[in-house]
Amino acid sequence: MRMIFLGPPGAGKGTQAVKLAAKYGIAHISTGDMLREHVKSETDLGKQAKSYMDSGRLVPDELIIEMVKKRLREDDAKRGFILDGFPRTVKQAEALDELLESEGIKLDAVVFLDVDEETLVRRLSGRRICLNCNAIYNVYNADYPEDGHCRNCGAKLIQRDDDRPEVVRQRLDVYRKDTAPLLAYYKGRGNLVTVDASSDSGEVLRAIEELCGGKN
Ligand code: AP5
Ligand code: ZN
Repeated sequence: MRMIFLGPPGAGKGTQAVKLAAKYGIAHISTGDMLREHVKSETDLGKQAKSYMDSGRLVPDELIIEMVKKRLREDDAKRGFILDGFPRTVKQAEALDELLESEGIKLDAVVFLDVDEETLVRRLSGRRICLNCNAIYNVYNADYPEDGHCRNCGAKLIQRDDDRPEVVRQRLDVYRKDTAPLLAYYKGRGNLVTVDASSDSGEVLRAIEELCGGKN
């Protein structure tokens, strides 16, 4: 199974990608997680990316495309992958097309996770993450750990710097301007499926599996 998860910040791309990737034994490739790792380890890329991320702007295409190209060549990605947060611009989508074509790989589906803006803002304000294992939680959800520590690894959960309200507004603007045009791009190629991602997480997962069934 080879899929792209497309959608605004807070739509649930990461939440669903983790579950599906584990279920099908394929790679979960989140450019946001990869960049946060680079920032944490203070690599050259991390140092270049940090100011863009903190202010809710996109990291330059060239840096992202290079990072994803390398990642897609790793062994686990050969069994299949879910791209979460990439591509994010038409330029990134074109670079991905080129790469997949040169490797003779076809995408099974581009899944658009559709959620209204009010729900997105609420989800982002309540999100807490584990920087150690990338697990995602939400203080508004019933399964939020009472002690504020990650259930997988015990690390303390934190709020992402870019989940502050003023940065969230900027990220939503960037999404509308730079990323939403990808919906038309993939619709034109005939492999876009839209999922109502405003319902609870289990239902969203079922809807994705139903729409993409038989492609694993
Ligand atoms: P990135 O980390 O990719 O952020 P994003 O796209 O803004 O997406 P999010 O991680 O905010 O949302 P999500 O859809 O994954 O939602 P989640 O599952 O966490 O990027 C961060 C930054 O890195 C960018 O701003 C940019 O600077 C840079 N970057 C990354 N990729 C780039 C690229 N390709 N090009 C250039 N720059 C790039 O869910 C959100 C919350 O809701 C969680 O708390 C979750 O528990 C909860 N939730 C999820 N689903 C449900 C549900 N069904 N019901 C109730 N709660 C739910
Ligand atoms: Zn953890």
